[in-house]
Amino acid sequence: MEILEKIADIQHFIKNNSKKTVGFVPTMGALHEGHLRLIDRAKKENDLAVCSIFVNPTQFNNPEDLAKYPRTLEQDCEMLDARKCDIVFAPSPAEMYSEWPKMRFDFGNLETIMEGKFRPGHFNGVGIVVSKLFNIVKPTKAYFGQKDIQQVAVINRMVKDLSYDVEVVVCDTIRTNTGLAMSSRNKRLSDNALAEASKIYESLNFGKKLHLEHENSESIKKEINLFSNSNFTLEYFEITDFETLEAIEQRNPHRKSALIIASFLDGVRLIDNIVF
Ligand code: PAF
Repeated sequence: MEILEKIADIQHFIKNNSKKTVGFVPTMGALHEGHLRLIDRAKKENDLAVCSIFVNPTQFNNPEDLAKYPRTLEQDCEMLDARKCDIVFAPSPAEMYSEWPKMRFDFGNLETIMEGKFRPGHFNGVGIVVSKLFNIVKPTKAYFGQKDIQQVAVINRMVKDLSYDVEVVVCDTIRTNTGLAMSSRNKRLSDNALAEASKIYESLNFGKKLHLEHENSESIKKEINLFSNSNFTLEYFEITDFETLEAIEQRNPHRKSALIIASFLDGVRLIDNIVF
C-alpha cells in the first residue's frame, strides 16, 4: 500500500493506471469497521481501492469540533493495509487549500433542513472537498455510508448537476452489537455514554413501528420519549420521504420513508437513520 501526500503524486499514479477501474472511499480518518467495509467493497468491485484521509476544515462550522476531531493516521494506515487498500491519499490542509475557497455550492432545500439547518455551510464544504477529490482521484465508483443520508443526497445532486463520470455507491450503516451506528465520533464517548447511545437506534425502531402503523408524524415525534430523563440533547428527529428527504405527515405505502435523528450525548454529536 502506498501513502501519498501530494496531489501531483496521486494524479501521476492515476494517470499511470488509466486503464484500471478505481474504487474511491473518501474519509476523514479515525477509521472504523464501517469505513473498512467500504474499502472491502471498493476493492472487490474495482482494480484499485483508493482511500483519502483528510479532516476537511471547510465543512466544520464549529472550530472546537474541528480541533477535537480524532486524528489517527498511523493506525488508520495499518487498518487499510490489512484490508489490502492500494493507495492512501493523506494531504495536509495546505496541500488541499492553498487559500480558503471562494466558490460556493448551493444545494437548495437540502441546506435548510436537518444537517443543513443545524450546520450552516457544512454541505458547501462537503461539496467543495468531494468535488476536489473526485477531480484529483478520478474514481470509477465512489463509496459512501448510508449513515450520512443527507450527505449522500448532496453528493448525488452534485454528481448529477456537474455531470461527474462517477457511480455513487451507497452502503448500509454498520452497527455495533448494541445497534449503535459506527462513527469516528464514538471514540469520544465515555463507557457510560457508549452504553446509553444504543437508545438512538431503539428510538428509530420504535418510530418505525409507529410509522408502519400509520401513526402521524407529529404524534410519533411526541411519543419518542426514549430521550426523556437521559443525557441526550435531541437536535432533530424527522420522518421524511427517502428520496427528497422532505418531512412527511404520514406513511406513503408506495414510497420508502426515512427516520433521521441527530442528538448530542456527552457533548458528542451523533447522527443516525433508518430507511424502509
Ligand atoms: O463523510 C465524511 O467523512 C466526509 O464528509 C467526507 C465525505 C470524507 C468529506 O470530507
